[in-house]
Amino acid sequence: MGTAKNEIVGWGIIGCGVIGPWHAKAVQLVEGARMVACCDVIREMAEKCAEEFGDGDTAVYTDLEKMLADSNVDAVSICTPSGMHADNGIIAAQAGKHILCEKPMDVTLQKIDALIEACEENNVKLAGVFQRRTYETSKQVREAVQSGKLGKLVVGDSYQKYFRSHEYYASGDWRATWELDGGGALMNQGVHGIDLLLYIMGDIRRLNARCRTLVRNIAVEDTAIATVEFVNGALGVIEGTTSVTPGMGGKIEISGDDGTIVMDGDKIAVWDVPGEADVEQTEQATDVGSARDPAAGLDVAGHVRHIADLVDAIWNDRGPQIPGREARRAVEVIKAIYLSSRGGGETVELPLSYEDDGPGIDDRGRDWDW
Ligand SMILES: NC(=O)c1ccc[n+]([C@@H]2O[C@H](COP(=O)([O-])OP(=O)(O)OC[C@H]3O[C@@H](n4cnc5c(N)ncnc54)[C@H](O)[C@@H]3O)[C@@H](O)[C@H]2O)c1
Repeated sequence: MGTAKNEIVGWGIIGCGVIGPWHAKAVQLVEGARMVACCDVIREMAEKCAEEFGDGDTAVYTDLEKMLADSNVDAVSICTPSGMHADNGIIAAQAGKHILCEKPMDVTLQKIDALIEACEENNVKLAGVFQRRTYETSKQVREAVQSGKLGKLVVGDSYQKYFRSHEYYASGDWRATWELDGGGALMNQGVHGIDLLLYIMGDIRRLNARCRTLVRNIAVEDTAIATVEFVNGALGVIEGTTSVTPGMGGKIEISGDDGTIVMDGDKIAVWDVPGEADVEQTEQATDVGSARDPAAGLDVAGHVRHIADLVDAIWNDRGPQIPGREARRAVEVIKAIYLSSRGGGETVELPLSYEDDGPGIDDRGRDWDW
């Protein structure tokens, strides 16, 4: 194992629940990486992941510190509940391991910044997972929008109308808690579409929002709507829910005074760009988790690209495609949405300070008055 150019990067998986095995499966498909260790506090989860995706001698750990002491592990995928990511990542960085961290990078900006700092101090790479960004269609849309092909940008919207059942929320005691999920329809599911909107449109200057818990018996929002103003002057809507039937997945709609592009999942639904025919569809329609079920429909291709990117970043000592600071952006917008809603829809300006990030965003249960 190693980190020098063309040496196989030894991979460890931290957290082997729903998404950990997806990372393991993706590692199998990347030539420069090999899964060498699986860690889960529940031994059977780690064993199952090692058996299914390992090559016979994958080490199994229930104690993260022990896995981090394993010299065969060069890089780790952090796949634990969201509010543990920074804590897990900081000790991984201190152990000299490169990191691919699931979304959201963590659930407070302060913790995300501490993780970024720890990675910088220990000279390890920190990459965030947002698989929708890795698709060619997302890059094509960004390029068209940023290069001015739609004219003056007028509106940029992200709609994510998902369905998550009571059983889904009951499937882990960290789900839908402020402390470990950090929020609901936006912080867990909607974070993907918000990241994509920011990637395509650029930063948001200010927003107003309403979050509600309309259907599910959970402490966090199951439905949220924000109106936003981008730094480039355009306006837009961010909408996220996990309580509609049928779940419809993620849509991004961008319009300028000269043209419109609509992405439905990772497919281009409308490409109305002056002087251009429809773009060639380069991807299958895939989505994040899928509108109905968090695991069904998950396409491993995005995770393969993330792992291949981090391997290449390690070999060539360059930054990853989605460095920590990029992965932080969507979390900041979501925190601003929560803050606005808690203030009755008041206008919140970005960037946020730590004061806006921390208090009240922890576990206030159903007593939290949106
Ligand atoms: N990119 C995507 O599309 C996608 C999809 C699903 C989940 N996720 C993200 O992945 C993360 C995990 O979600 P999940 O649905 O797989 O959760 P999960 O509850 O199914 O799995 C988490 C696992 O972590 C283990 N764990 C908890 N504490 C640990 C510790 N200290 N050390 C080692 N293992 C520990 C648990 O036992 C559990 O098996 C979340 O942050 C979630 O947002 C991303």
